[in-house]
Amino acid sequence: MRQPNFDFEPDPQPSPEQIERDKTREIYRARLAEKLKDPEFRKIEGFPIGTDEAILALSDPPYYTAYPNPFLEEWLAENAVPYDADTDEYHREPFAADVSEGKNDPIYNAHSYHTKVPHKAIMRYILHYTEPGDVVYDGFFGIGMTGVAAQMCGNKEQVESLGYRVLEDGTILDEDGKPFSKFGARKAALNDLSPAATFIAYNYNTPVDPVVFEREAKRILAAC
Ligand SMILES: C[S@@+](CC[C@H](N)C(=O)[O-])C[C@H]1O[C@@H](n2cnc3c(N)ncnc32)[C@H](O)[C@@H]1O
Repeated sequence: MRQPNFDFEPDPQPSPEQIERDKTREIYRARLAEKLKDPEFRKIEGFPIGTDEAILALSDPPYYTAYPNPFLEEWLAENAVPYDADTDEYHREPFAADVSEGKNDPIYNAHSYHTKVPHKAIMRYILHYTEPGDVVYDGFFGIGMTGVAAQMCGNKEQVESLGYRVLEDGTILDEDGKPFSKFGARKAALNDLSPAATFIAYNYNTPVDPVVFEREAKRILAAC
């Protein structure tokens, strides 16, 4: 029988972005551990039954928490612009077109969910209604395809696969060559009742280091 090979390369050096992200994670993890000691915090409807350690292990604060995210308000204060009726000039005509996307995209097939929507279908709405950097909220996100779509608005290949064209200055032209949007990722705030769905959505939407991912996947395959 073939013997498993666990002799893999050591971890590559983490990127500067990864180091920054890890620092943020540590700060929020300590804050979350403090919050978990507050009995009032645990009274939030739907709060999971579990030890502090289990809840902390499942969570990746401030990006993902395995219960209503206590950092959401802070994040919105940093990332969203409050609505002001006196100065607001936002206007879009209603999006009126048939939207049809196949279900054979590798991202779509990475994980199943009973009511999953292909992210490319959602991208069309996000590109129509929002600007780069805007916050998109989905309160019933399932496994997070709205988040994937929001991020993919900053991926030229994905945007052009919808039949649009991205110009050098970031203008996006529709199928008729008419400018209608700007190229660039949007930010997503996501919420769902199902713990399994939120966990899958978190993994769909969190950047991974592809080198480490490939090595770990091969290690698990070899172990199996
Ligand atoms: C139609 S699915 C959304 C699927 C999503 N578009 C996707 O691509 O994965 C509706 C979701 O709403 C969630 N849901 C139902 N009631 C909810 C509630 N009161 N609060 C939050 N989420 C809820 C369900 O768990 C389900 O995942």
